[in-house]
Amino acid sequence: MDPRYSVFASRFVGPSGTRLLMDDLGEALAAGEDLCNLGGGNPARIPALQALFRARLRATLDDGTFDRVSGVYDGPQGNREFLRAVRDLLRREYGWPVEVDHIAVTAGSQSSFFILFNLFTGHCVDGRRRYLDLPLTPEYIGYADIAIEADALRARRPLIEHLDARQFKYRVDFPAFDLAADSGAVCVSRPTNPTGNVLDADEMSRLVEITASADVPLIVDNAYGVPFPGIVFDAVEPVWAEHVVYCLSLSKLGLPGLRTGIVVARPDIIEAIRSFNAILTLATGSLGAVLATDLVASGEVLRVVTEVVRPYYRQRVADAVSWCARHFDGIDYHVHKPEGAIFLWLWFPDLPITAQELYARLKARGVLVIPGHFFFPGLAGDWPHRHQCIRVSYAQDPVQVEHGIRVIGEEVRRAWQG
Ligand SMILES: Cc1ncc(COP(=O)(O)O)c(C=O)c1O
Repeated sequence: MDPRYSVFASRFVGPSGTRLLMDDLGEALAAGEDLCNLGGGNPARIPALQALFRARLRATLDDGTFDRVSGVYDGPQGNREFLRAVRDLLRREYGWPVEVDHIAVTAGSQSSFFILFNLFTGHCVDGRRRYLDLPLTPEYIGYADIAIEADALRARRPLIEHLDARQFKYRVDFPAFDLAADSGAVCVSRPTNPTGNVLDADEMSRLVEITASADVPLIVDNAYGVPFPGIVFDAVEPVWAEHVVYCLSLSKLGLPGLRTGIVVARPDIIEAIRSFNAILTLATGSLGAVLATDLVASGEVLRVVTEVVRPYYRQRVADAVSWCARHFDGIDYHVHKPEGAIFLWLWFPDLPITAQELYARLKARGVLVIPGHFFFPGLAGDWPHRHQCIRVSYAQDPVQVEHGIRVIGEEVRRAWQG
C-alpha cells in the first residue's frame, strides 16, 4: 500500500474478507459456466420474481414514472412514496407505531452498516471511545471492515447445541454476554449470514432488554428476514422497540444490483442517516424504491414472499441438505440447522487442513465457497472451530450446487487421506 495513503484509507485498501468475497464473485461472473460459484451472496434468479420486476419496470417506463424519478435527485431520506409504503406495511402487518420520519433509504444494507457502525463506534463527541458488540459469532463478513476505527468490533463465541441428523445450532451465551459502559451498539443478523441461524423469540427479547437497560441501540440486520424477502422457514416475529434499528434490503428479494437498503429507527437516528446520505451520495438511487413501491403499498410483496420466495428456498435447502447426506457419506461433518438465509454452514471437526486451505483446493477445482474464519469479526483469541467451517450458498443452479457439494466431499476425504 502506498504509505502516502491516509490511515482512513488503509482501513479499506488492505486485504479484507469482504473484498475477497466480492472479487470471487466478479471472477465467477467473468468465468461464466466454468466456475461453480457457491461462494457469493447473490440471491437466486427466481423466474416468477424476475417477471414481476420486469413488468414493474415496463410500467414505470410507460406511465412516465421513470422519466420523473431518473431526472431528479431524491431527498437524502429516500423516495417519499416508498417511505410511505414501507411505513404503512409495518403499521398494518406488525402494528409498529412508525411514521415516515422513522424510515430512511440507503444505497444497500452494506451502506446502512457503514453509517450506523460509524455513528455509534469510535471516538465520540463526549470524549469516550465506544465499541460495537456482536452477541454471537459466526456473523456477517460485511461487518468486519466497515468501522473506520480499527478494532471497533467485539464479539462472543456461541454455545453449540447439537441436534439430530448431524445438525447443530449456535446459541447466544447469555451468561457471558454483558455490556460494558463503552458499548456503542449491539448488532445481530437474523437470519444470520453465514449460518442460517434465526435467533429465537426468547433470545431476541433478552437482547432487547439488555440493550434497553444499557441504553444502546440494537441493530437488527434483516437482509433475509420478514416482512421481505422472508427467507425464514419457520414463523418469526420481528421485534420493535424505540432503541431497535431495523435494517431491511431489497437485495435478497432479487434486486442486489439496484442497491436499496431501508433503515427503520428512531427519528434522531434517521436524521443522522439523512446527513450521511447527503454527504456521501447526495441522494439515494430511486429505481429500486420505485420498482418496489406498489408491491409494498399493496401488500403484494407478502404474497410473493409466501407463495414464491419462501417455497423456492425451502426446496433448495432441503435438496442441499440431502446432497450433503449423499456426498459426505463416511465424513465427520455437521451442518448448522438451516432456519433461513441462503447458505449451508458446514462444520468438519478436526479437519486436518484449515478451511482456508480447503477453500484454495476447492477453487483449484472450480468450486467457490467462503472459508469460515472470515465470519468471526471482532472475536479475540484463536478458536480452532473457525478454521473448521465453510459457507456454501444453495441459491444457485441446483445442478451446480449438487456438483459443488460432491466436490467438497471429495476434497474433505482427500484431506483426511493426507
Ligand atoms: C446479513 C447481510 N446483511 C447485509 C447484507 C448486505 O446487503 P445489501 O445488498 O443490501 O448491501 C448482506 C449481503 O449479503 C447480508 O448477507
